Amino acid sequence: MKNLIQIAAVFIALSLSSTAFAKSCDIEIDSTDSMTFDKKELAISSECTEVNLTLNHVGEFPKNVMGHNWVLTQTADMQEVVNAGGAAGLDNEYLPADQSKVIAATKIIGGGESTTITFSTSGLEKGGDYTFFCSFPGHWAIMQGKFIVN
Ligand code: CO
Repeated sequence: MKNLIQIAAVFIALSLSSTAFAKSCDIEIDSTDSMTFDKKELAISSECTEVNLTLNHVGEFPKNVMGHNWVLTQTADMQEVVNAGGAAGLDNEYLPADQSKVIAATKIIGGGESTTITFSTSGLEKGGDYTFFCSFPGHWAIMQGKFIVN
């Protein structure tokens, strides 16, 4: 009986500590029919343990014409993910089959749509060099910005 109480106490302590350290942070970004994001920079605190990212498409064009997603990679990995994602096609959300270099990504949306993803920050480092972009073919050149972990 004493052992059970000790085990229960450990579980309660563990669950309390994980609750204390969990911090969910919200980010929202708009995309348009002009092939733009409304922000060139997104920043989070390194205290965030997970991020809720909402992408809105405030335009009207359908996703096969002016589709947008929000993809996060290390800046050094962006070009590889852009190339492989572009080749993968709309049916695959313009994302590569091998997503080992994709930190986070939404699906492709069209005008009037929104999508939200939640991703862990466990793979992100304070001060790291990260870029977010849209992987729809040709969009990345304009539709990109810095993702900063402060
Ligand atoms: Co786009």
